[in-house]
Amino acid sequence: MKIAFAGKGGVGKTSLCAWVADWLARSGRNVWLVDADTALSLGQASGLGADALPEPLVRRGDLVRERIHEGGFLNLNPEVGDLPEELAVDVPLGGEPLPGVTAGRKRLIVMGAVTNAGGGCACDANALLKALLAHIVMDRDEWVLVDLEAGVEHLGRGTAAHVDGLVVVSEPSMRSLMTGAEVGRMAADLGLENQVLVLNRHAGGEPPRLDGLPEWRLSVPPFEGLAGRQMTDASVLGLPESGLLDGLVRTLLDRLAGRVNRSNEQAIL
Ligand SMILES: Nc1ncnc2c1ncn2[C@@H]1O[C@H](COP(=O)(O)OP(=O)(O)O)[C@@H](O)[C@H]1O
Ligand SMILES: [Mg+2]
Repeated sequence: MKIAFAGKGGVGKTSLCAWVADWLARSGRNVWLVDADTALSLGQASGLGADALPEPLVRRGDLVRERIHEGGFLNLNPEVGDLPEELAVDVPLGGEPLPGVTAGRKRLIVMGAVTNAGGGCACDANALLKALLAHIVMDRDEWVLVDLEAGVEHLGRGTAAHVDGLVVVSEPSMRSLMTGAEVGRMAADLGLENQVLVLNRHAGGEPPRLDGLPEWRLSVPPFEGLAGRQMTDASVLGLPESGLLDGLVRTLLDRLAGRVNRSNEQAIL
């Protein structure tokens, strides 16, 4: 199953993506984590030290030249099948595997921000990034979680059609909900209709109904355990609240996979 995470900056996309990936690996699934956010923090949120992070794809000028300019031509449909293995690093589990389960593998690929700052042509790096994302989403029969920037621009129509679900993450604030609604509309336009809203740091109250905002929602409370340590620790894993979090992740995945227990649908606080 392939899931993308989107929403306004700072609302918890990266944290949620790290939590879901860790639960999947602890329950025996192999997961590809794709950091397509320019803030590049999925690795740190998953507990990797700065020296253990993979080189972002867009900084691999060698690969960009080799694949996009193969044979002196501009190749917008480059060969990328070997790149996930070439670019990924293994990410350690943030907790114990579930009882009786052999843990799966978590692997992280960092896309990086496409800019012109370093000289080279941004459109070449962007073409390779899009081709790699399309490959991982379309041709890999494994769990893939994509931490997007605010919107869904990285997903072309073809790639979006192969994403099984979109998690729109929002804080309980009007501005962030409005961004969420916009993301929901854009994704629906690309044909990505299976969407859920995660209201993060939600301590009560009803969100407004906004056109485009997914109707089904899950609330994640503010975690004291995270707030208390995040000044000194970038990892969001191994929290004292991990039991509650595991339950929330299961509810979310059940819903995205279409197996939700209706009585379980309401916010869990
Ligand atoms: N439920 C939560 N409780 C407490 N802190 C949280 C919670 N969710 C996220 N955070 C913190 O909020 C900050 C922003 O989260 P992050 O996942 O990086 O957001 P985004 O990827 O949307 O920019 C991080 O410091 C993270 O540790
Ligand atoms: Mg992020």
